[in-house]
Amino acid sequence: MNRSRFLEHVGWTGTGIAFTIGAAGSMSPMSAGAKPQSIGFVQISDSHIGFHQPANDDVAATLSETVDRINAMPVQPTFVVHTGDVTHLSKPAQFDDAKQILGRLRAPLVVMPGEHDVIGGTEAYFAAFGKAKGTGGWSSFDSDGVHFISLVNVFNFEKMGLLGTEQLDWLERDLRDRKRDTPIVVFGHVPLYALYPQWGWTTEDGAKALAYLARFDAVTVLNGHIHQVISHTEGTITFHTANATAYPQPAPGTADKPGPLVVPKDRLLKMLGYRSVKLISGETKVDESTLA
Ligand SMILES: [Fe+2]
Ligand SMILES: [Fe+2]
Repeated sequence: MNRSRFLEHVGWTGTGIAFTIGAAGSMSPMSAGAKPQSIGFVQISDSHIGFHQPANDDVAATLSETVDRINAMPVQPTFVVHTGDVTHLSKPAQFDDAKQILGRLRAPLVVMPGEHDVIGGTEAYFAAFGKAKGTGGWSSFDSDGVHFISLVNVFNFEKMGLLGTEQLDWLERDLRDRKRDTPIVVFGHVPLYALYPQWGWTTEDGAKALAYLARFDAVTVLNGHIHQVISHTEGTITFHTANATAYPQPAPGTADKPGPLVVPKDRLLKMLGYRSVKLISGETKVDESTLA
């Protein structure tokens, strides 16, 4: 798929809403047994626009700095994925501010909601970023021989970490006819495996999704929500959570509960950032960059 077609299918750009991933299933046929030469994209997460607390008194500035750094990359990523919690309280003004900053990205943006984006319902989020047709917001697309899947595992602020039967059935259909050597990359907000259930850092029915993914040779699952990098492997599935651009959270079990972690300003920038991902012949290479 060339860049302009890719943009047409998945890109949300600052010049207008063009997030038009189609009905269930992929947008373009995979060439049989295709291995990607090299595809690179960037993941950002948890920008919490509208957050005003001591853990970061200017989340717009740290997101803006992140965008500047990505725009300065000599080779632009195929796309930038934002894995949710774009806003802090789902307010229209917060979506507007976020879109203004993210709209400066030179690369197309793929975005999915976090629980902070669906407070009071999903309408404001979908009004801001559009909704994949024919689904509850989940979608998939192919680029350079890699199959990308974007999941929604937040339906309201309370029901975190749930995919639901409709989405799981869609996922099964989406994967059913794919060859096992197709590299798969899955995006979602809340971790799909039981990372730390005591703090709700899990997806209740995530194991069902992972069962559909387990037969593939190379699966990479990228999530946000926990505001820190934790990697984990189960069989052929590798998981990486991401740093936030807004504020850090404590490591699992090191505090009474999860939430914004106040650290000195110079340390804060070392704990915020983005991730570059390169897929080369089915191998996933991740490179963490911080704002320090
Ligand atoms: Fe978050
Ligand atoms: Fe979250």
